[in-house]
Amino acid sequence: MELNIFKTVEEQIAALANYVIDASKTAIMDHDRFDFVLSGGSSPKRLYELLTSDKYKKRIDWSRTYFFFGDERFVPAGDEERNSLMAKESLFDHVNISDDQIFKVDTSGSPEEAAKKYEMDIEVHFGKKPIRFDLVLLGLGDDAHTASLFPGTSILNEKEAGIRSVYLEDKQVYRISMTYPLINQAKEIAFLAFGENKAEAAQHVLEGEKDTSKFPAQLIRSEMGSTEWFLDKKAASKLTKPRKK
Ligand code: 6PG
Repeated sequence: MELNIFKTVEEQIAALANYVIDASKTAIMDHDRFDFVLSGGSSPKRLYELLTSDKYKKRIDWSRTYFFFGDERFVPAGDEERNSLMAKESLFDHVNISDDQIFKVDTSGSPEEAAKKYEMDIEVHFGKKPIRFDLVLLGLGDDAHTASLFPGTSILNEKEAGIRSVYLEDKQVYRISMTYPLINQAKEIAFLAFGENKAEAAQHVLEGEKDTSKFPAQLIRSEMGSTEWFLDKKAASKLTKPRKK
């Protein structure tokens, strides 16, 4: 588990952009494609915008990049709550890729059907091989959730399925999410969190008592690769042993 702490969000996002670029190069050299799981929420927007800026755009082979979502809100395709809509506006619309490079969650049926279909689509993409994403990008909620692995929800105990639907009582909404065993099969996992409001969650997850039901992001650690945290100093401000970058 590598902890990277940055004075400013700009430095943090630039470092993560370089990390994504390196991961894409390693993956494409190794197996001619980059299987990249995008995080939802708002934090990654600036990363996606930087990756598609003139300075960075040419450093990724977008034609060999395949995009997945760590989780998706169970709302209609064009709904502004969709993680895929934010990715479209800040990333997909700015690079030359085809629709079949983007694995979206189909929410036209039931939540269970959406989860099953999404998992099947991913299995087909990986053929007979185990589903091992090259990079999974994750955010951190201020309640220490990540993807849609929320405190006290049944999905935290899911060890078989790779994708599950989960109902969030407090938000009265379904989510479709990768489970922690699927995420942990990834070669590389990178958390992105910035701002004071993430400091407590970061401290609980990284240094607090082991309680994965209360702090679900503690479930996440790549089994065979690396798990890196990219924090700005505000999000790291409650860590007792911070290492300045
Ligand atoms: C989602 C995300 C979720 C997100 C965190 C952080 O669908 O909302 O997958 O896990 O990463 O809630 O969200 P922010 O980046 O908006 O703070």
